[in-house]
Amino acid sequence: MVKDRYDVVLLPGDGTGREVIREGQKVIEAIQEGSSLKFNLTHVDGGAVYYRDHGSEWEPGGREKVEKADAILLGAVGWPGVVRPDGNIAGYELVLGLRFGLDLYANVRPCRLYPGVVHKIGDEFKEVWKPENVDMVIFRENTEGLYTPAHGELTRGGRTEVAVDTRIITEKGAERIIRRAMEFARRRSRGAPEDGVKRVTCVDKSNVLRGCQFFRETFRRVAQEFPDLEPDYAYVDAFAQWVVRSPEHYNVVVTTNMFGDIVTDLASVIQGGMGFAAGGNVGDQRGMFEPVHGSAPKHAGKNEVNPFATFEATRMMFDWLGEKHADPRLGREAARIEAAVAKALSSGKAKTYDQGGKVSTSGAGDVVAELIRQSA
Ligand code: IPM
Ligand code: MN
Repeated sequence: MVKDRYDVVLLPGDGTGREVIREGQKVIEAIQEGSSLKFNLTHVDGGAVYYRDHGSEWEPGGREKVEKADAILLGAVGWPGVVRPDGNIAGYELVLGLRFGLDLYANVRPCRLYPGVVHKIGDEFKEVWKPENVDMVIFRENTEGLYTPAHGELTRGGRTEVAVDTRIITEKGAERIIRRAMEFARRRSRGAPEDGVKRVTCVDKSNVLRGCQFFRETFRRVAQEFPDLEPDYAYVDAFAQWVVRSPEHYNVVVTTNMFGDIVTDLASVIQGGMGFAAGGNVGDQRGMFEPVHGSAPKHAGKNEVNPFATFEATRMMFDWLGEKHADPRLGREAARIEAAVAKALSSGKAKTYDQGGKVSTSGAGDVVAELIRQSA
């Protein structure tokens, strides 16, 4: 249902998360200026540093505000030296807590090299990593696998002797992420850069792991309902080299939680680095969007990190909200963000340090916000 105003909670979290969310807010405000679309933007404080200072990961009432929001934009969590006694990372509630708590089972991570962006590996691959060759979306299962909270230690006499994590793959968990990836591939206007084929690649380790055999079996079964798509298979170890050597082969990729965590960081190097990697954590009802890079303590407070992953996360949030509420204005505004981002990047006027430039985080935000205003 179309709404007059959408409630968006901004969860800056820790470190550079706070700096990039400020720029995300700038972009949302620039969009509002030239549009009938309106947002209530609410900041909720929390994370590792908050936990260190207040003994709780959420500001009072913060979790309730998040529960009620139409969408969530998260910065990053984690801070050196801040640990929780239960062994979870400090900031857990904002990331893993919400993924499980709101059942955000799909972690959707586009990997696309924009014209003007420098990828992060040596020059000899210049020809392979042309922008037109890098355009895939990786679907990472987000609520089970090795992240299932079926873990613990065997501690005897105060000494930990064994630690164990149990990797759980359920039919429900596998089926819904696979289905989601295939539905996305069906709706996507383009296929793989290599040949335009609407390929969906199942990444697993089914030559060894039972859970992966089950995941692949489920993939085969669901694929029968999508005869318009080309099913494709890769073991995760082989995928790690192919995604770098032949990114043009990939269109939509679906994988389990831990593998998805790893291969999306790996794939980020062919899209220009973690400064460009964004993710949507989406379930059937709720959505939380975030840059995939962490709180980057080394860079925090310097106004130097790349905010483009946050702009991409913001664009994804608009797209998702637009589909959920059948509000075409949001899709149009998402396209306006994308166009401004593409223009900012190809002009070279928003190059942050990681791209060999000197533009600050807020400077890059200003460039994109100004381009959005011009496109009103
Ligand atoms: C990510 C991050 C998280 C994860 C951490 C911060 C818990 O690395 O979103 O990829 O492991 O999923
Ligand atoms: Mn990660």
